[in-house]
Amino acid sequence: MNLPDWWPHDKPYAIMDCLEGMKELPDKCVDLVLTDPPYNLGIDYGDTTDDNREDYFNWCSKWFEECKRVTDFIIITPGRYNIYGWNEIDGFEMGIWINKMQQSRSRISYLSKWEPIIFYGKPKKRAAWDIWSYNSNRGDGFNTHPCPKPQELFFKLITDFSNKNDIILDLFLGSGTLLESCRKTNRIGLRFEINPEYEPIIRKRGMDEELINGKWHKKQEQQEWW
Ligand SMILES: C[S@@+](CC[C@H](N)C(=O)[O-])C[C@H]1O[C@@H](n2cnc3c(N)ncnc32)[C@H](O)[C@@H]1O
Repeated sequence: MNLPDWWPHDKPYAIMDCLEGMKELPDKCVDLVLTDPPYNLGIDYGDTTDDNREDYFNWCSKWFEECKRVTDFIIITPGRYNIYGWNEIDGFEMGIWINKMQQSRSRISYLSKWEPIIFYGKPKKRAAWDIWSYNSNRGDGFNTHPCPKPQELFFKLITDFSNKNDIILDLFLGSGTLLESCRKTNRIGLRFEINPEYEPIIRKRGMDEELINGKWHKKQEQQEWW
């Protein structure tokens, strides 16, 4: 698959602040935004990010406005404790994903098993249900990101809400879960991630490359996919 003409980078991902990256994208250029932002819970994403922002919802509204400009349909996994802020948005729908292996606690239970998903705008097609249920999957050992999303969840959301060859944008790529999901489902995945520490994981998962003697190589039987 080719990168779209308007994408100003030589790879399907760019290591940069998403707000800067979004400015360079034309109106209505992508079929779907599917993104998993920082939760404002003090998670350590490395030196480049502050996950404890006083201006959190003000910041969210800036990138959300940009999302509305570049697409007609947006999916966000905002985290349970941020739902009250997103509630301000007119016309959003909510679904949930149930994580059977979830390790986190809530204020009322020892194990918390669900997370919200926000949907905004008009999907190209409808899913059968608004509940997605999966086991937690932190990757296959190379994933050092503090909170990767389950591969199966993103895989299912992509296939439920987009078609082959569609262009999907993620503003907060993290360890590349969405890029890998796009590669495996024949979608064109375009991404921003601010932290360069995650680039090796992103390349391995999203582009199916391996590091041999300090150089990246396409795995042999693989085709170039973007
Ligand atoms: C919740 S994590 C995403 C995890 C990802 N879904 C995965 O499965 O690995 C949020 C990510 O956003 C990145 N991030 C934070 N601020 C950013 C910004 N302004 N622009 C781009 N990425 C940012 C963090 O470094 C972190 O990796």
